[in-house]
Amino acid sequence: MCGIVGYVGPRQAEQVVVDGLRRMEYRGYDSAGVALVADGTLATAKKAGKLKNLETELAQSPLPASRQGIGHTRWATHGGPTDTNAHPHVSANGRVALVHNGIIENYASLRAGLEAQGVEFASQTDTEVAAQLLGQEVTRHGTLVDAMRAVCNQLEGAFTLVAVDTAAPGRIVAARRNSPLVVGVGDGEMFVASDVAAFIEYTRDAVELGQDQIVEVTPESYEVSSFDGEPGTSKPYHIDWDLSAAEKGGYDWFMRKEIFEQPQAVADTLLGRLDHDGQLVLDEIRIAAADLRRVDKIVIVACGTAFYAGLVAKYAIEHWTRVPCEVEIASEFRYRDPIITPNTLVVTISQSGETADTLMAIRHAREQHAKVIAICNTNGATIPRESDAVIYTHAGPEIGVASTKGFTTQVVACYLLGLYLAQVKGTKFGDEIRDLLAELEHLPTKMQSVLDGIDQTAKLAGDFVDKKSILFLGRHVGYPIALEGALKLKEISYLHAEGFPAGELKHGPIALIEEGLPVFVVVPPQGRDQLHDKVVSNIQEVRARGALTVVLAEDGDNEVDAHADILLRLPRVPTLFQPLVAIIPLQYFACELATLLGHDVDQPRNLAKSVTVE
Ligand code: G6P
Repeated sequence: MCGIVGYVGPRQAEQVVVDGLRRMEYRGYDSAGVALVADGTLATAKKAGKLKNLETELAQSPLPASRQGIGHTRWATHGGPTDTNAHPHVSANGRVALVHNGIIENYASLRAGLEAQGVEFASQTDTEVAAQLLGQEVTRHGTLVDAMRAVCNQLEGAFTLVAVDTAAPGRIVAARRNSPLVVGVGDGEMFVASDVAAFIEYTRDAVELGQDQIVEVTPESYEVSSFDGEPGTSKPYHIDWDLSAAEKGGYDWFMRKEIFEQPQAVADTLLGRLDHDGQLVLDEIRIAAADLRRVDKIVIVACGTAFYAGLVAKYAIEHWTRVPCEVEIASEFRYRDPIITPNTLVVTISQSGETADTLMAIRHAREQHAKVIAICNTNGATIPRESDAVIYTHAGPEIGVASTKGFTTQVVACYLLGLYLAQVKGTKFGDEIRDLLAELEHLPTKMQSVLDGIDQTAKLAGDFVDKKSILFLGRHVGYPIALEGALKLKEISYLHAEGFPAGELKHGPIALIEEGLPVFVVVPPQGRDQLHDKVVSNIQEVRARGALTVVLAEDGDNEVDAHADILLRLPRVPTLFQPLVAIIPLQYFACELATLLGHDVDQPRNLAKSVTVE
């Protein structure tokens, strides 16, 4: 939520900063802005709306050449998405410019104090408070890094700040608390950003900053210290993907590209998980087997799509481990005083690894002495860093705001965790676990076969462009798939869409059914007869009331034929693994429909991908 970038080095800073913002626009697109230091003065440009508005402005009124700049792409919290509320914000004395990601919770009292001293504010943002304070502190302390330290010690909440000082050419100072910041280490140039995507074009060497740390960068060096002024340690790492992964590669949308990347992403997530003896190994789980054996309750905590991945996982984890598993929306978790003991295993799922609601849930769980395992797609992000262990999904960068390969790889990582727990607790025999893993390894091929036949789904979207409301039904693991299918449609097509447990419809929502209302139904594989037959009955109930049924059923299931207005075939897979193939047509349908409706699929209105505020 909000993307920030800073650059010092031999290149033209404006270009590097704007390119960085383009790769981070998924984090927010309410406004964009840049500030450069040129000949001892600040030059800024900022525009409401998407980055292209800023680019047009820069083309019309170019900024001076500069080797040092910062930029920001905003997801508005305090103050509307206007030009004046856009970052960077400049201090009243004109000396510093600053960008911010997060929320400064005590901004109102700080602002009142500054106003009492006569400081005039130009914007309604919480950020400007930090800019004004920094302007005052830099005059008092002399150096930007000391001033930044003094400011950070006055702020409460979540913030990543990046600033330049006209009196400090060739230097950028950045700080972080509860929101992300990475340094990109180039050859004679340095970058700071919310996400490595901002500088992947120039370097794949990065340094992650810890909580409450400040970094001062020059073209040749970076120096990390704490908010208290103590020298800080930081962790360098190499980014294992390159620029091509962060580009559309011929697709119209990142989302469409990411849907097609799912077989590979799932295969990569499964890679190298068996040792020579055929035992499942999760190297990243550094929690003693004895501790895992004691686990008597699992709580999965996540938001949005990741929450639905957790709902799918519950079925598999309980089935394999016989340990009760709850799934909870992260923003609700700590407020209901959840029952957590040292024997509770909390599993958090987050593609970005930065979601504030999930992070706060982790902190709460750890305060209660629970062990926390994170399932995450972003190396070194805050959530894995604050957890006891992590399973990385190897999906590569996910840039489309609506999650697709993030979801399928999260589900796979949860399956791996479930099987690992079953192995450790002895609730499944080794050969059963190996059989299930072998089934999982077939999934990428099965997912590919769904993608090979995806044209039928594309055509369906064309037939549904005039629909105002669409329902999704499922049972067992098909239920969270119905929820996720509806979420995709809401997020990018802005249609009314709801997912229901198929059996629950008759208890109320069936009143929504009217002539021609599309109802997607995920039919379980035929093996589980009761489940399958119940869903077939539910299809008939809605069809009898005029619904237009779109039925997703496995190859060879002919019992559904008579009840389906439109039939989308799925490859045959075990029931618990069906979500991985069933979600693909629903993702693609949403992507195609949103495209036909003329929406920006990758940057849907009001949303952001990495939500770093609560
Ligand atoms: C936001 C995004 C969703 C995403 C959710 C959780 O709300 O718009 O697409 O599912 O955050 O994100 P995470 O990075 O924690 O998986």
